[in-house]
Amino acid sequence: MFNKMSGVNKLKKDCKEDNKIIILNWKMNPVFLNEAESLWNLVNGMVIKKELTVVVCPPFPYFPRFTAKLKNVVLGAQDCFWENKGPYTGEISPLMIKNLGVKYVILGHSERRENLNETDEMINKKITASLKAGLKTVFCVGEKTRDEKFAYLDFLKEQIEKGLKDLPLRFLKNLIVAYEPVWAISSAQNAEAETADDLLTTSIFIRKALFNLFNAKKIFEIPILYGGSVDKNNFKKFLNIEGISGILVGGASINKKELCSILKN
Ligand code: PGA
Repeated sequence: MFNKMSGVNKLKKDCKEDNKIIILNWKMNPVFLNEAESLWNLVNGMVIKKELTVVVCPPFPYFPRFTAKLKNVVLGAQDCFWENKGPYTGEISPLMIKNLGVKYVILGHSERRENLNETDEMINKKITASLKAGLKTVFCVGEKTRDEKFAYLDFLKEQIEKGLKDLPLRFLKNLIVAYEPVWAISSAQNAEAETADDLLTTSIFIRKALFNLFNAKKIFEIPILYGGSVDKNNFKKFLNIEGISGILVGGASINKKELCSILKN
């Protein structure tokens, strides 16, 4: 597979990775406000290292409780729509969340692709709108299954090309790519976290796909994160991989023990 990847060392050298990002995706949890507040207070009250950005992504209804109390973390959303206002029942706009003080938004998560039939085209519109609104936009990609002939890499490439289609270069400064193989997400059957070696290879492939798409040096500044069964036992392994700028944590982000362990270490 490495034959496909000319210039790999140069790609590795040019990537910036001084700062790490930890994104806590609470998904549709917890159900009670007092539990959400207790979790929030724990994370928000923690002393976080200067070179680390911790982004908490709670469900929308909890936002107003948290925006006034931001201390050591930043707020992120788990989704947003592609229009800023209008007749779109049930949707939440990029500008609305931006105006609330939200800094990050996760888009294209596999659970939305799967359960809500979000297509690459919809995700492309959302990414464009949220970048236009000035939000740090976390674009999730990831294959459902692995195959020995590496067809999953073509799948990834297509997801990247379609999701980022026609994106102006000036928007790239707020783009983040999260590689989340669907089979590795903790709710999947027999889920298992990605190995360090494979993650390194895939992240280089993703960087190359970004380069082919934009043909610009700016792509070296796009952080690539990993998500999928990250927990207190394996998070360091992922953060130490060259070219990986952070992690996206789901299940472990609503478990206080796991959370403390990850953020303290
Ligand atoms: P997980 O979820 O950490 O529970 O595997 C990650 C995600 O879906 O973002």
